Amino acid sequence: MGIKGEITFPGDKSISHRSLMFAALADGESRISNLSTGADVQSTRACLEASGIIIHNDGDDVVVTGGKFSDPTQPLDCRNSGTTVRLLLGLLAGQGVNATFVGDDSLSSRPMNRILNPLSQMGMKSECNNGKLPITIYKSELSEIKYKSPVASAQVKSAVLLAGLGASGNTSFTEPILSRDHTEKMLLGLGANLSINGLTTTISQLSSPLFSFELSVPGDPSTAAFFAAGSAIVPNSEIILNRVLRNPTRIGFYGALQKMGAGMDCLEQWEEAGETIGKLKVFQQPLNAITITKDDVPGLVDELPILAILATQAKGKTEVRGAEELRVKECDRIHAVCKNLKNMGADIEELDDGFIIKGPTPLKGARIETFHDHRIAMAFTIAGLVSDGDVVLDHPECASISYPEFYDELERLKQ
Ligand code: S3P
Repeated sequence: MGIKGEITFPGDKSISHRSLMFAALADGESRISNLSTGADVQSTRACLEASGIIIHNDGDDVVVTGGKFSDPTQPLDCRNSGTTVRLLLGLLAGQGVNATFVGDDSLSSRPMNRILNPLSQMGMKSECNNGKLPITIYKSELSEIKYKSPVASAQVKSAVLLAGLGASGNTSFTEPILSRDHTEKMLLGLGANLSINGLTTTISQLSSPLFSFELSVPGDPSTAAFFAAGSAIVPNSEIILNRVLRNPTRIGFYGALQKMGAGMDCLEQWEEAGETIGKLKVFQQPLNAITITKDDVPGLVDELPILAILATQAKGKTEVRGAEELRVKECDRIHAVCKNLKNMGADIEELDDGFIIKGPTPLKGARIETFHDHRIAMAFTIAGLVSDGDVVLDHPECASISYPEFYDELERLKQ
């Protein structure tokens, strides 16, 4: 069996969340096609609708009418989505909305002080449960801050910049390492007054609505990574990944894959709406170990679980360090990866901030604890393609958080 054929992906999750939110701040109707089909982006849509924004489907497109936000009458349920709560909290705080945010058990255990600290420095009044959800924000006058973030996080950066759209003066945000820059790119293109100087982004209060827009969201490189990885480790594989986002802050995994020795060609590359997009071919070749350091992490943060699977099939010692952020994702991904890979017979050592994997080792079938984390479910499904014996996931359905079509598409490409 190999992984063969062509695949086109639903829109990038990060850009999909942002396109809904920025369309809500725009003048008139915006039309978005190829929006992510994942449940997380549905959560953002539902929260915006509950806050007074009109959104409707037109065929496969989603049409958002920008307008005034109103106080939601019920708590905003962000379900599993960290991007929904962190970005919307900044956005709604800036728009003077009173709202309560809630989420599922996973989201309710994730740290929110990273956004509450800068936003309260800007003047946001709020209540929370010890730095976690539920959080209630109260209409407040926000003013500029110059914030130096201790973490490289696009969610924190975006929360502060979006709050800055409603704050007096010029809000600036400095991060230690560049994280994904979709917020900056999109806001610049939509008429916000924003400037970037190295790792510092400065934004001014919005004096008129953003421009409305039409956007076809590029395919999600984090979703495509599972198929690229499958193709890199299953013998006789060759896959074409169509129209995948190639923003430089998002392609760390593809660089790593190439460095490990996988067959990879970029067949075409072009620009669309300020983003680089490409068509890639990935095929199986022997893999070598790789070292990932703190500076590399933001560029492949969501791809580290699947990179761990690749490392079990690569020759030598793969080290991932400086990745402590993985402990506060949808689950503790360092623990989830180490526990499940150990059960599959991999040689893996857990570190506080990453892991060490020695390979190659044959993997055996196992029952996988997904911790209801979509990326753990998809990564271990790919591990199952090369395991001797079946991989059985406890909650396969959680893949629908980012990619409901995952299992069907993988079946289609198995040949
Ligand atoms: C995201 C940022 C990242 C990433 C998440 C999506 C975003 O989180 O892990 O899946 O859309 O801004 P952090 O900013 O917390 O690293």
